[in-house]
Amino acid sequence: MLKPYPGRWIDEDTLPGFQQEALDFMHQVQRVSEELMICFARGLHFEDDYFVKAHDVGRTDSQTVCRLLHYFETPRLSNPNGEVFHRAGAHADWDFLTLLFQKAGQSGLEICPGREVSTSFGYGDAWTKVEPDAERNAIGWLCILVHELAQLTHPAVCNVGDQLMAWSDDRFKSTFHRVKAPSDPDDYYGERYSIVFFNQPCKDAKIQGPLKKYPLVTGEEFTKNAMSRNYKALQEKLGGEEGQKPQAADQAPVVSVQS
Ligand SMILES: [Fe+2]
Repeated sequence: MLKPYPGRWIDEDTLPGFQQEALDFMHQVQRVSEELMICFARGLHFEDDYFVKAHDVGRTDSQTVCRLLHYFETPRLSNPNGEVFHRAGAHADWDFLTLLFQKAGQSGLEICPGREVSTSFGYGDAWTKVEPDAERNAIGWLCILVHELAQLTHPAVCNVGDQLMAWSDDRFKSTFHRVKAPSDPDDYYGERYSIVFFNQPCKDAKIQGPLKKYPLVTGEEFTKNAMSRNYKALQEKLGGEEGQKPQAADQAPVVSVQS
């Protein structure tokens, strides 16, 4: 069971019931995630519970996180040059498997399939919208109806992350995606709420595919490497922008992040 960590929750007086409701939701998403993990394990000829054991959220070194996101409403401004800015810049998730819950009508998520190799920064310009109301989405993402949650949200979007890509010797590919800032007349300009559940293996999990295509790393090392890579990319971006006007987001370096 997930353990409540004292001091990390909004207190009951401020937001009654939030902690319990959040934990209940996370346990539901965890159960769905574990069903998907069994599918991936079978596809890779691991034991059925191989990934489930590696993602034991009852352990104190679990790295799985749930993030509540809110993007503010933005004004309709003229954009004669067609510049593209992002609410969340182009990236691939570094986790094992992401389950995303979007509210109907609050679009903005786009994907850019075509990545070939784990940890490489491929980048294309063919972006496909992933509408929250759609029952099926483009190749590279899998849209599923999530049992109990279907009544509360619309279909969850399920995304393969870098860890699963490495763990599968690149058979399951992580997908570049972004949340585009509205700039075209048909874009959605209102506020956007989403819930993102990042399945990440425990710190001592040993990440290596059946074919041993990549050196073995632990869950902790994988996370540390991803954060170091992102920090370096950010520093380079900031250094490059010093004294310059802000770049359009589609010119920024592509990184793997959790957003
Ligand atoms: Fe993401």
